[in-house]
Amino acid sequence: MNVLEGALAGKVAVITGATSGIGAATAAMFVAAGASVIIGGRRKDVGEAFAAELGPRARFVPADVRVESEVEALIATATDEFGRLDALVNNAGLGVSRPLPLPEADLAAFLDTLAVHAGGMLLGIKYAARAMIPRGAGSIINMSSIGGHRAGWSDVSYSTAKAGVLQLTRSAAVELGTRGIRVNSISPGPIPTGIFAKNAGVDAERADRTAPALEPLFLQALENHQSIRRVGRVEDVAAAALWLASDASSFVTGQDIGVDGGIAAGRPVSVAAEERRLLAEAFASLPG
Ligand SMILES: NC(=O)c1ccc[n+]([C@@H]2O[C@H](COP(=O)([O-])OP(=O)(O)OC[C@H]3O[C@@H](n4cnc5c(N)ncnc54)[C@H](OP(=O)(O)O)[C@@H]3O)[C@@H](O)[C@H]2O)c1
Repeated sequence: MNVLEGALAGKVAVITGATSGIGAATAAMFVAAGASVIIGGRRKDVGEAFAAELGPRARFVPADVRVESEVEALIATATDEFGRLDALVNNAGLGVSRPLPLPEADLAAFLDTLAVHAGGMLLGIKYAARAMIPRGAGSIINMSSIGGHRAGWSDVSYSTAKAGVLQLTRSAAVELGTRGIRVNSISPGPIPTGIFAKNAGVDAERADRTAPALEPLFLQALENHQSIRRVGRVEDVAAAALWLASDASSFVTGQDIGVDGGIAAGRPVSVAAEERRLLAEAFASLPG
């Protein structure tokens, strides 16, 4: 039995940054669960081809989340073409291509990262709230990151923006909850998508296509951090978004769901066991 089947039947969702990776997987899963989706992103050709692949319940609207009029038009498509908006997934994001040490920090680059991750999200919430308030219902899902909880996993601007997403989520939840709108966030751990190669300057389409090749590298790099011994997948994150968009989570708001294989919970117990073994060896070799 597919537990997701029909979970979003008749619902209409907007997903920002859905031309690849987590956003694209979320769009595909939402459509499979019965929703109509409006997908955003800056790459028109990629977005249009993807919407065509998803079928008649999908539309692509080019939208850079830093541009207010484009976010407004993206969200208006839900009500104009499908008559309602049930869910918004604020997913658009990018990594930082040239992280600089703090003594060389670049204010413009820092502010641009905030503009995409936090500013774009604020705009999404603004126009989604306008569409949802008249119906007194809706679910907004914001993409944060393990980097919003723990320093050292990403550049300072990305971490700051993703930490801001957590508080933006709580603030929006307490303001919009009284109007029937739920607001939650998701914090994925490292998921092999094109975001990493794009940061390194690889062409976006090639980065998206080759992302699965990163899996063995991720598995090895996460060995001492992640208790669940497999690589996180875009579908793991999409499934959390699907639950938050569905009525099954109707009493959940202001929360963050980690989809990180246990990284935020702490180190795998095997790491501490190995450290204890090394310490015991060191004690045993002490003179006297
Ligand atoms: N992969 C991970 O390990 C990971 C972990 C934690 C959190 N996240 C977060 O998950 C989200 C999705 O990332 P991903 O890993 O799936 O990477 P991805 O495949 O590169 O997807 C990023 C999406 O955001 C869009 N985008 C980028 N800048 C945009 C802008 N200014 N306006 C509108 N859309 C924009 C991209 O589309 P266009 O290029 O067409 O604009 C693309 O659809 C991001 O918020 C990211 O920070 C990822």
